[in-house]
Amino acid sequence: MLTDCAALAPCLSFPIWRCQDPRGSQTLTPSRQPVCLHLRLEFKGSSICSKAPPAAAGSWQASPCLSFFCRQTRGPAGRDNLQAPLPHLSGESPRKDWAMKLLVALLALVAPGFSLENGLMRTPPMGWLAWERYRCSINCHEDPDNCINERLFMAMADRLAEDGWRELGYVYVNIDDCWMALQRDEGGVLVPDPERFPSGIRALADYVHSRGLKLGIYGDMGSMTCMGYPGTTLATVALDAQTFASWGVDMLKLDGCYSSSLERALGYPAMAKALNNTGRPIGYSCSWPAYDGGLPPEVNYTLLADICNLWRNFDDIEDSWQSVLSIVDWFSEHQDVLQPMAGPGHWNDPDMLLIGNYGLSFEQAKAQMALWTVLAAPLFMSTDLRAISPQNVDILQNKLMIRINQDPLGIQGRRVLKTKHHIEVFVRPLSKDASAVVFFSRRTDMPYRYRTSLGALNFTGHALYEAQDVYTENVISGLTRDTDFTVVINPSGVVMWHVYPIVGKESLPWL
Ligand code: GLA
Repeated sequence: MLTDCAALAPCLSFPIWRCQDPRGSQTLTPSRQPVCLHLRLEFKGSSICSKAPPAAAGSWQASPCLSFFCRQTRGPAGRDNLQAPLPHLSGESPRKDWAMKLLVALLALVAPGFSLENGLMRTPPMGWLAWERYRCSINCHEDPDNCINERLFMAMADRLAEDGWRELGYVYVNIDDCWMALQRDEGGVLVPDPERFPSGIRALADYVHSRGLKLGIYGDMGSMTCMGYPGTTLATVALDAQTFASWGVDMLKLDGCYSSSLERALGYPAMAKALNNTGRPIGYSCSWPAYDGGLPPEVNYTLLADICNLWRNFDDIEDSWQSVLSIVDWFSEHQDVLQPMAGPGHWNDPDMLLIGNYGLSFEQAKAQMALWTVLAAPLFMSTDLRAISPQNVDILQNKLMIRINQDPLGIQGRRVLKTKHHIEVFVRPLSKDASAVVFFSRRTDMPYRYRTSLGALNFTGHALYEAQDVYTENVISGLTRDTDFTVVINPSGVVMWHVYPIVGKESLPWL
């Protein structure tokens, strides 16, 4: 049975609420709680929704909002504004909200000319991030090999170091939410959960470093993390930056749950400064835009590019093709705003790679990799590297793909064509006058024979080109602007080409 969440008003007044499907670990994270305007809840009659303040996060209690399974659906506005607290829940009046927006806009205008300048991430960062695959799975008694604990991160570090990932550039091993104890220590310092991280983060960082890798950690600009662990407030920004640096952390993802626009407008730049002040180069991933609608005027991308190495613009990725499509759609629709903001040291982040998990077919996995590469996206895998199939390894370890993703010019690609036959073409300019071209089919019938020419795709600079298919490695020679060619694109799949001009052997790219 579906019902509007308004019918669940008593539940919505809880500071945090979670719905748990007793058959599995499906939880409705607190970050989604405030979107109730756009939420509908599906009653399945078998789950328990419980009031779960941080202190009780481990012990589920029955509560008045009993027995339902929660499902997020899209609201009329197209994009669910997942994490911004609802004014009526956060106690902000519409008038105060407007005043706040004005203040934030003014703040953005007078933002100091401070730059992060940590010299990091001149090409999109690559590595492994726990969230999409492992979420907030903290029951290590029942599922010791798949819960958020130090052993998981050590195991992934082992795989990255031993299975050829590290040499290809996948060097970050990143912790996400749910690593902390529920309280800071007496000195106000963040501490890891003592049972799941008994050796501490410093020891984990040492281990990761000993394997030639880097460690990333997660915090949240707000009163608590999306899953209810201690947040970083304006008062603790400097302390938390110092703590992370003292542990030897190499990257920070700063989420934005449970904060106001004003706190974010002050907090994200403050953290950039605090990280700089530690003297340790720490890559800085800001989720700020994703909490303010992702677009100007609320989001000041010029400022972001100065103070963050990468930023999440849009919704969380979920383990489904539909989720990938919604992200690709949003990035393409807003490419005029987003594309110019990416460059060496500062990247748009469409979120993690799903490859190796459950939601994508082989074609779709190849498509996600190609599309993320053409978008100059950070490549963070979130999958069990102990069990990934050779087929998926091949996609993620494709050398030419990675060289394209890591092209030193750092120009984000754009969708240049959308045909009525549901074929889309994306082009990313690369160094040495080369380009990456992704022919993407949204069709659901059969392999489609798409006929076009380089001229039709605006390749005008050179008389002669050659292309290499990034997945099959076939080379297509003798392409002039007018040469018609046909690519056969599988349903929800891609053909990806690396196209380069032929102007004399010495100027061939990649040689
Ligand atoms: C938000 C972020 C996710 C993840 C979770 C953790 O939803 O967007 O990437 O970090 O919080 O709770």
